[in-house]
Amino acid sequence: MHATICDLITDLVQNSIEAQATEISLNVEETKTNLNIAIVDNGKGMSASTLKKAKDPFWSDGIKHKHRKVGLGLPFLFQTAEMTGGNVAIESEEGNGTTATITFDPAHVDLPVFGNFTTAAVTLMTYGFDGNLEIRHCLDEKEYSIEKQELIEILGDLNDLESLILLKEYISSNEEELRKT
Ligand SMILES: Nc1ncnc2c1ncn2[C@@H]1O[C@H](COP(=O)(O)OP(=O)(O)OP(=O)(O)O)[C@@H](O)[C@H]1O
Ligand SMILES: [Mg+2]
Repeated sequence: MHATICDLITDLVQNSIEAQATEISLNVEETKTNLNIAIVDNGKGMSASTLKKAKDPFWSDGIKHKHRKVGLGLPFLFQTAEMTGGNVAIESEEGNGTTATITFDPAHVDLPVFGNFTTAAVTLMTYGFDGNLEIRHCLDEKEYSIEKQELIEILGDLNDLESLILLKEYISSNEEELRKT
């Protein structure tokens, strides 16, 4: 099961990758009072009825998990929002992509812990898909952003051990800079 907000974010971006998106943007904004997450993809999108069904923990499209017709990603997201007074809006158009906009109250006691953003970002940047992924992370007034195709230009294949180490160092130093007071 999900333990952290970062796990939840990872799952949502994986949904975009699985929907054959070639452009994905992930935007995470943290302040004392708000945690805003937005994921925009240009993947295959969902019809209104698929989107409705996708909120149901007892439904999955049956393609990914051939023996299990149960999806956990979206139902968990909706359940977390419901439990903590958060808000989830998903807009999707078949053939045109999906936009998920999520707002959580970071002070709510039932909100899962945030988790390790560096690990999540490294996982997503090295996930085997050919498209571009842009990740932007803001904390109060500070922010940084990284783009997969730019990282590949600088580091080469991100799954090479050496590149992987540099990638992890680069993201974690950006994260440290954000947390510095
Ligand atoms: N970004 C998206 N674009 C297109 N379809 C999506 C997107 N996100 C979710 N879906 C659809 O909603 C369904 C449910 O998603 P959910 O993440 O809950 O489960 P899953 O991805 O099928 O399985 P799991 O996440 O548990 O591995 C998916 O099977 C897919 O059909
Ligand atoms: Mg999923």
